Amino acid sequence: MKIMVISGPNLNLLGKREPGIYGVETLESIVEKMREEAKKLGVEVEFFQSNHEGGIIDEIHKTMGIYDAIIINPGAYTHYSIAIRDAVKSVGIPTIEIHLSNIHAREEFRSKSVVAPVCVGQISGFGSDSYILGLHAAVLACKK
Ligand code: DQA
Repeated sequence: MKIMVISGPNLNLLGKREPGIYGVETLESIVEKMREEAKKLGVEVEFFQSNHEGGIIDEIHKTMGIYDAIIINPGAYTHYSIAIRDAVKSVGIPTIEIHLSNIHAREEFRSKSVVAPVCVGQISGFGSDSYILGLHAAVLACKK
């Protein structure tokens, strides 16, 4: 089982960026934890981060025929990128949307995700553990 983990804009700054909201863990450390968890689960994981919508869309397209599931934290694109939503829908690969913060408990504009309706489901509010929970959800989704 191969799983692609995609992180969107500003997530490269985790650890420094608004630590009160997103925590002090860096993306590199989350990636390391996910690699360990993936080993335990016996699945392969690859990682991609971009601050650019087109780069994220290209990476989603590249998963076709290669990956069994996608885990995506689209960052702020969550709330308005129809192009990322369409890419997820187009590749037809089970996708889990994840967020470190609880997007439903913040500003009103964050509570809407245009991507979630084309995903298997959404995990939001567990800090860096949202990535680990996303991995478990992706494995379960693939087994269905
Ligand atoms: C986020 C939530 C988004 O609203 C925000 O724009 C982000 C991070 C999260 O992981 O909590 O960049 O996706």
